[in-house]
Amino acid sequence: MVDLSTDLGFIKLKNPVITASGTFGYGEEFQDFFNLDILGAFVLKGIYKNPRSGNPPPRIHETASGLLNSIGLPGPGAKELQKIVKRIHRLTKTPIIINVCGDTDEEYIEVAEIFDKMDEVTMLELNISCPNIKRGGKCPAQDEKHTYKLVNQIKHNTSKPLIVKLSPNVNDISSIAISAEQAGADCISLVNTFLGMAVDLDSKRPVFKNLFAGLSGPAIKPLALKLVWEAVQSVHIPVIGIGGITSGRDVLEFILTGASAVQIGTINIVEPKASVRIIKEIEDIMKKLNIKNLDEIKGKLKI
Ligand SMILES: Cc1cc2nc3c(=O)[nH]c(=O)nc-3n(C[C@H](O)[C@H](O)[C@H](O)COP(=O)(O)O)c2cc1C
Repeated sequence: MVDLSTDLGFIKLKNPVITASGTFGYGEEFQDFFNLDILGAFVLKGIYKNPRSGNPPPRIHETASGLLNSIGLPGPGAKELQKIVKRIHRLTKTPIIINVCGDTDEEYIEVAEIFDKMDEVTMLELNISCPNIKRGGKCPAQDEKHTYKLVNQIKHNTSKPLIVKLSPNVNDISSIAISAEQAGADCISLVNTFLGMAVDLDSKRPVFKNLFAGLSGPAIKPLALKLVWEAVQSVHIPVIGIGGITSGRDVLEFILTGASAVQIGTINIVEPKASVRIIKEIEDIMKKLNIKNLDEIKGKLKI
């Protein structure tokens, strides 16, 4: 028997596989594919205070080994999501993570406070890194001081464990990770999508109305691994690795790099039962390599 559990300090997960925000709906859409109890945890689609319709189409565009999206965070608003969360909690006891969004710091705080009060919610993930904002706009995770101020305010207004989700679209990930840690983050997760663009030769126009969109999927895995490595070297809190993971082998590579858990995103859209396969693959590889628990390899990359 191998032990797949992982300790994030504030919670022990039964395995390191968490489904990533925006790629797993509100969880309940996946109950026909597999039993949600098998997951380490799952993150719901990002939520703002009020209902939003998101960006105009086209919203997604396939690239070689990746997906560009400009979904723009549509959603039913916090009040409606509270009802959904109650429903999901009746389906599974797997920890539910709320992906908190805001157009202003005040909105972030308000949304965080609403879900902080819900017993059904285990953790909050602060999405300070959404790339689908107006051109030229900066998200909080692209600025050290803004990251510190916002995370600090949320920590003072909430009591649930706080994961801060970082952007890869920065020059120095270490300084942003350190700001989040100093402001009280319990954990950081990275990466959100990389800014990219697509061009339509026939119309001579950019594919997306916003010009830029967020790139995810296997294409970003090496870039994400590098940023996860840098973050792990910079902070003492646990790091959740995200980016292009499609197999059990990928998960173990992130753990070896120092991640305590991972989130799987785009692969859920291509293969809804990917988590089931990935968890099985982790188990099989660990048995084959005689790894009894994840701590045996966590952060043990030989440099
Ligand atoms: C269609 C789509 C929607 C997403 N929506 C969100 C979101 O609501 N909140 C968020 O923090 N990240 C969102 N993301 C980013 C993913 O959670 C993840 O960080 C990113 O896709 C990288 O992981 P992957 O390469 O495994 O997909 C979204 C990604 C995709 C592809």
